Amino acid sequence: MKRLKPIEQKNWRMLSEKTPRLTLVGAGPGDPELITIKAIKAIESADVILYDALINTALLEYANKDAEIIFVGKRKGCYSYHQEQINELIVSRAKSHGHVVRLKGGDPFIFGRGAEEIDFVRQFGIESYMVPGISSAMAVPANQGIPLTKRGASESFWVITGTTKSHKISKDVALAAKSTATIVILMGMGKLKEIVRIFSEEKKGNLPVAIVQNGTRKDEQSGFGTINTICDIVKNKKLSSPAIIVIGEVVEQRAKLASIYKQVETNKIVA
Ligand SMILES: C[S@@+](CC[C@H](N)C(=O)[O-])C[C@H]1O[C@@H](n2cnc3c(N)ncnc32)[C@H](O)[C@@H]1O
Repeated sequence: MKRLKPIEQKNWRMLSEKTPRLTLVGAGPGDPELITIKAIKAIESADVILYDALINTALLEYANKDAEIIFVGKRKGCYSYHQEQINELIVSRAKSHGHVVRLKGGDPFIFGRGAEEIDFVRQFGIESYMVPGISSAMAVPANQGIPLTKRGASESFWVITGTTKSHKISKDVALAAKSTATIVILMGMGKLKEIVRIFSEEKKGNLPVAIVQNGTRKDEQSGFGTINTICDIVKNKKLSSPAIIVIGEVVEQRAKLASIYKQVETNKIVA
């Protein structure tokens, strides 16, 4: 795998005969089989792949052997690219190599900054395409048997970021806490105490909560409790990011679904 120097020189000069283009590709939540056929075709046809930390690197096996593969995500102790550098890299590589695939965890348009990247490259006349992905917001609870909606339990769900651009908790969490919807919080582990306080103020201390770390991956871990107990459960189980927080009555439905999944597996209906 070829590695890039951290700082890429700006060079918008057209070096390739190939048409410069960008395809944003949703890599799914972590299980490498939870990806679309269209996404695999895009990876296969890429001249350059820029990938994030949350993608399963097994997916890079689909890449052409001549493709340049560049990690642009954040990992502890590693150089991490700023969004501006990633934007510039997309443009320079599209112009020099042709087809750039931007491989992002889950769905690129759900807290993935995918729209920003498209806005940026359009200024340079680069065609862009989008392959939607299976978002962790839905797949991770589903993998634990949690239905985000269920008749009699939940009529809607909110997907909220726990941490905003200014590193504060999203004001939408307080609005959501007043609703009867299922609440799915991404990037919320650093704000768990604040989330618990907000729901407690709404007298929802007994509301069920699930936390799933590394959902759909082999190292998936989870904790189940209520608003009143979840902080202790997280501490005892040492749960941390990347994790999804699911708050709502539907979390109670998990056991029933889990037994259905088991039955399906036993009957070998699914592999
Ligand atoms: C920047 S957001 C990207 C979300 C992504 N675009 C999606 O649709 O899944 C990253 C956050 O998504 C959540 N996340 C992504 N993959 C996850 C997984 N496999 N298990 C648990 N949480 C995950 C975590 O809350 C993580 O901090």
